[in-house]
Amino acid sequence: MENKTHNENVIEQFSKQASNYTSIVAHRDALEELITISFATKEDNVLDIACGSGIVSCEFAKHVNHVTGIDITQEMINEAKKLQAKFQLKNIDWEIGEVTSLPYPDNNFSIVVSRFGLHHFLNPQLVLTEMIRVCKPDGIVMVVDVALPDNKIDAYNMMEKNRDSSHVKALSVKEFEMLFEKSNLKGIKQSSYTLKIELEEQLKASFPENSEALREMILEDIGIDNLGVNATKIDGKVFLHYPICIFSGMKV
Ligand SMILES: C[S@@+](CC[C@H](N)C(=O)[O-])C[C@H]1O[C@@H](n2cnc3c(N)ncnc32)[C@H](O)[C@@H]1O
Repeated sequence: MENKTHNENVIEQFSKQASNYTSIVAHRDALEELITISFATKEDNVLDIACGSGIVSCEFAKHVNHVTGIDITQEMINEAKKLQAKFQLKNIDWEIGEVTSLPYPDNNFSIVVSRFGLHHFLNPQLVLTEMIRVCKPDGIVMVVDVALPDNKIDAYNMMEKNRDSSHVKALSVKEFEMLFEKSNLKGIKQSSYTLKIELEEQLKASFPENSEALREMILEDIGIDNLGVNATKIDGKVFLHYPICIFSGMKV
């Protein structure tokens, strides 16, 4: 990363990834499940942190009173505004900002959500603490991200770091559980789903440090699964299966 700070690297990566991000079909998987798990109603005011191109924010906006989406990358927010316009949603505000110090008062939102952001944060614990701070008592805090078994985590992180240099670290399932156990949220719930994406679609939307080495690493892993994404050839195409965990809890 030379002299670039981590946040500068995130912004550089996602400024490039922004234009293709929303079109990846798998990014729309399990959205209804997130609405159900968070018990979202028309009374709710939602905060979506590291909201990116607004896929989760827009889904919530269809079900709740208001959504605020915050992200550090202007280009992702530009894409989010396009998605909002496509769905003709009036009840969303977008903000450029950093999630380790959220610019909102304590006890402000009834649902605080983060999807696919955790592995980009240098200090996930600090971000979860911030999410809880801005959530109202009895409100729901929900985090959705890749989580792997202990024995796959190092190889997975190496692969993802090549694909996206702003990747910091995916948590193992155990680390994810511990993060929530230590959080002081009550009624913690855990579920999971598999995000299936075609390798070439994924590579087209990514800016790897070495795309040939990345492709090779994945092709060599078919039928072995050291990487934890169960690379599989189906009708001549290679598909990756990312294991995604959804953790949620209620603020005391
Ligand atoms: C993989 S995208 C996820 C986007 C969206 N949440 C979704 O589920 O589709 C990760 C997003 O996290 C944002 N991000 C990473 N670190 C951040 C930080 N410290 N503060 C704010 N946004 C951050 C990036 O700009 C990017 O838009």
